[in-house]
Amino acid sequence: MVLKGSALIDLLVIFLYLATHNSVVVGRFVVEKNSLRVTSPERIRGTHDSAIGNFGIPQYGGSMAGAVVFPKENHKGCRSFDDFGISYKSKPGSLPAFLLLDRGDCFFALKVWNAQKAGASAVLVADDIEEALITMDTPAEDISSAKYIENITIPSALIDKSFGETLKKAISSGDMVNVNLDWREAVPHPDDRVEYELWTNSNDECGVKCDMLMEFVKDFKGAAQILEKGGYSQFTPHYITWYCPQAFTLSRQCKSQCINRGRYCAPDPEQDFSSGYEGKDVVLENLRQLCVFRVANESRRPWVWWDYVTDFQIRCPMKEKKYNKECANSVIKSLGLNAKMIEKCMGDPNVDSDNPVLKEEQDAQVGKGSRGDVTILPTLVVNNRQYRGKLEKGAVLKAICSGFEETTEPAVCLSGDVETNECLDNNGGCWQDKSANITACKDTFRGRVCECPLVDGVQFTGDGYNSCEVSGAGRCKINNGGCWHESRNGHAFSACMDGNCHCPPGFKGDGVKSCEDIDECKEKKACQCRECSCKDTWGSYDCTCSGDLLYIRDHDTCISKGATEVRSAWAAVWIILIGLAMAAGGAYLVYKYRLRSYMDSEIRAIMAQYMPLDSQAEVPNHVSE
Ligand SMILES: *[C@@H]1O[C@H](CO)[C@@H](O)[C@H](O)[C@H]1NC(C)=O
Ligand SMILES: *[C@@H]1O[C@H](CO)[C@@H](O)[C@H](O)[C@H]1NC(C)=O
Ligand SMILES: *[C@@H]1O[C@H](CO)[C@@H](O)[C@H](O)[C@H]1NC(C)=O
Repeated sequence: MVLKGSALIDLLVIFLYLATHNSVVVGRFVVEKNSLRVTSPERIRGTHDSAIGNFGIPQYGGSMAGAVVFPKENHKGCRSFDDFGISYKSKPGSLPAFLLLDRGDCFFALKVWNAQKAGASAVLVADDIEEALITMDTPAEDISSAKYIENITIPSALIDKSFGETLKKAISSGDMVNVNLDWREAVPHPDDRVEYELWTNSNDECGVKCDMLMEFVKDFKGAAQILEKGGYSQFTPHYITWYCPQAFTLSRQCKSQCINRGRYCAPDPEQDFSSGYEGKDVVLENLRQLCVFRVANESRRPWVWWDYVTDFQIRCPMKEKKYNKECANSVIKSLGLNAKMIEKCMGDPNVDSDNPVLKEEQDAQVGKGSRGDVTILPTLVVNNRQYRGKLEKGAVLKAICSGFEETTEPAVCLSGDVETNECLDNNGGCWQDKSANITACKDTFRGRVCECPLVDGVQFTGDGYNSCEVSGAGRCKINNGGCWHESRNGHAFSACMDGNCHCPPGFKGDGVKSCEDIDECKEKKACQCRECSCKDTWGSYDCTCSGDLLYIRDHDTCISKGATEVRSAWAAVWIILIGLAMAAGGAYLVYKYRLRSYMDSEIRAIMAQYMPLDSQAEVPNHVSE
């Protein structure tokens, strides 16, 4: 008999139990909170807890101020606000709109999506019954909502019923209700290292959630490795396993889904016991990934786990029937990991006893301290707090970065990867040099910072708000150090020298605003000999000699081409020049070009003394007799 569909899922539920059921009757789920402070009106000022929604992007480590609005129509937010012609887009200079919506009638995520589309910056959902705060989650396995949930980028929070009533009353009486949503304490930051763990799965065929998880691992890899290599974080991957109740360990289902005689199981990937991969294959690969981490961690390269899992996804997918040990080993080998040690760590899957690695995983599934039980995949825990929000690189990095004390966070937290785009608006109020297109504004996960930039290896210094300057020689690299510069007919001149402004030779002026060409001919600075004829050019001059004479610029004089003493003197110069030419052909070319007409015959004569010319017979380099 082949079981399909829901009957089979029921069977899986009957057969496989999460380890958390061992010790607690009901899985313990911790509601993660942020704080919500009412700043006005005065009479309802105060701080309240709100529960972070498990979708959208909570601004971990940051805060947001806004004005609360409660829609007169569509107050549950289950319909698009377009239908009512309402928009909450904030106007310039006004506070962003935080839309207050009532719980009920539709998914939380749909309310938030409708609010986002209408231009709201955050959503507060007021509970409709008096109860402790709950976490607003995404609907499980709902394909149509999965599409928009992915695009939710605004944060959302649930508030309790009575607080919701208070806000509504203040709004209806015409008050401007301003609140501050604050996530700065949502993740504790006890020390300068962030510990985080990801509960994941090697199964690549489990639908939307697996695809999302794999996308995330791929995207996040770079940041994770930077954090780990810098010693800023300690990451640990985890894998959920199920177990088979004692009475069923010998059933066909448990045999195909479990290893170690029913101790460690995973649901069948295709939910079809008769074909494709079995749950057992998934448990084994999960175990291998755990061992890859352990072995890599022992050799002080824990970040290789990220390479292994992403490479495995790409190289060994179930779709291509490569989800197996052989393919895994080729990945292990390519990453320079010790395959023997990994094999040893995995142990024998057929023995009737505990596997120490998987046993530890099952124990870790049970919540400890501020962390709830892990019952769903994927689960991300940062500094022992469960992450709430979208599993997306920028959002997760924000949460991890908020686990550092402010100002101790590593550069990856301040990089463009997690930018908030606040610099796009009025340059974030930071210093900038529009003409050179340089700015002190940097987007970070905490919002923008104004820091004098490093441009082309040159560090600007200053307060970042009003001024940033470069001192020293580096100045000239950036916008010519503010000095005069000009180019004409392919000739360019700059007045910047060693960081100061001086007009270059051939020019006079202040060096900042202007440098003017010196007319060398008129000012009798050069080319004044009897045979000389002078013509000024921009930044220089041209000088020619009458008759057969040659102008020697260095000596500012005309000499005879025919004179023997000159010839021998030139011969000496040329011997040196030939040496230079061999070392650096450029100089040779310049001289050759300039003096070609005169020197051609001279060079030939001189060079003939040192090397054979074309016309001379070649010395044979091989003989036949
Ligand atoms: C979500 O965003 C993607 C890419 O920006 C877009 O193609 C898609 O249509 C959006 N989905 C919805 C439901 O708006
Ligand atoms: C990884 O290594 C570090 C120290 O090198 C150790 O503290 C940590 O417990 C190890 N993690 C695992 C899962 O073995
Ligand atoms: C300024 O520089 C940024 C990035 O460095 C670039 O995207 C932008 O187009 C530049 N703007 C101008 C006006 O050159």
